[in-house]
Amino acid sequence: MSFDALYKNMITLYEEEGKKWCDELPEKVDQIIKHFGITEVLSYENLSYNYVASGLMNNHPIVLKIIYDQKSLNYESKSLSAFKHVGSVKLLYRGDGFLLLEKLIPGNSLVGMMDNDVDISLLSALIHQLHTLRGYEKSDFRSLHDWFSVFDQEWSLPKKYLHKACLIRNYFFNQNQKQVLLHGDLHHDNILQHGSHWKAIDPKGIIGSPLYDATSFIVNPVRLLKNKEEEYLSQLFARRIKKISSLQGWSEQNLTAYCFMYTILSWIWALQDGTDAEYQKKCAEIFDNFMI
Ligand SMILES: Nc1ncnc2c1ncn2[C@@H]1O[C@H](COP(=O)(O)OP(=O)(O)OP(=O)(O)O)[C@@H](O)[C@H]1O
Ligand SMILES: [Mg+2]
Repeated sequence: MSFDALYKNMITLYEEEGKKWCDELPEKVDQIIKHFGITEVLSYENLSYNYVASGLMNNHPIVLKIIYDQKSLNYESKSLSAFKHVGSVKLLYRGDGFLLLEKLIPGNSLVGMMDNDVDISLLSALIHQLHTLRGYEKSDFRSLHDWFSVFDQEWSLPKKYLHKACLIRNYFFNQNQKQVLLHGDLHHDNILQHGSHWKAIDPKGIIGSPLYDATSFIVNPVRLLKNKEEEYLSQLFARRIKKISSLQGWSEQNLTAYCFMYTILSWIWALQDGTDAEYQKKCAEIFDNFMI
């Protein structure tokens, strides 16, 4: 098993504790697979913050996800339980520091569906399905207010952007908009095919405006888009905003404003994690121009 990127990220973010978690990981995997009788364990590649592997349990294909951050694990498991009948992967078991999930098969992601904008229709249908959820326990989740509160702090990014993000946030929060349980990170890699359906994995447990759930998709997949010209991105983002707004019955202007806020938030996260923020800078310029 090779965990190079995972190790590097965990140590950068959590220092000694992160290193300890990485060092103990092989033993933890071993304990879990022995306890549950999991066989044919195969870890996924390109892991960044969590350990994820597939295997067989009682001859059923499953996925094991080991998560360092206990708060994230709690939000993910609560969201999966809430969304279980509306378009998300099934949670089979919640353990101490890990989750066992049904394995989605074939499990290919929405990245392979970008021709002719098929990804946009599939994303829209999934958002629609997830947001039909009613009657979830509000106190189990956090809110977008919490995430967007970082706009009030000082960050090394252009003041005009932070100021604009604050103004937009305050405008929407004063509007008393509809609130739903969001997926919170609904980009291409978190939407996988299961038989003839598409299901969401990796939800974040956050409540807020439905528009937020299209934002991460609009600027993804980052690894394929980050080196594209601004002109190309600008056309792609405009097309995605237009089509999604039309399919969902949303205002294009409002969705653009949410994309701008998401980009500033993601820029701040990059600053916190010490990762490159060139792509966020490019996206912020584009969305800012759309709003002029
Ligand atoms: N239930 C599942 N069925 C099939 N494949 C899965 C399942 N869960 C996760 N995967 C695969 O593992 C990858 C990582 O899973 P996930 O998105 O839950 O973790 P992550 O939090 O994004 O991990 P990281 O932060 O390390 O990238 C997915 O992109 C997908 O390829
Ligand atoms: Mg993911």
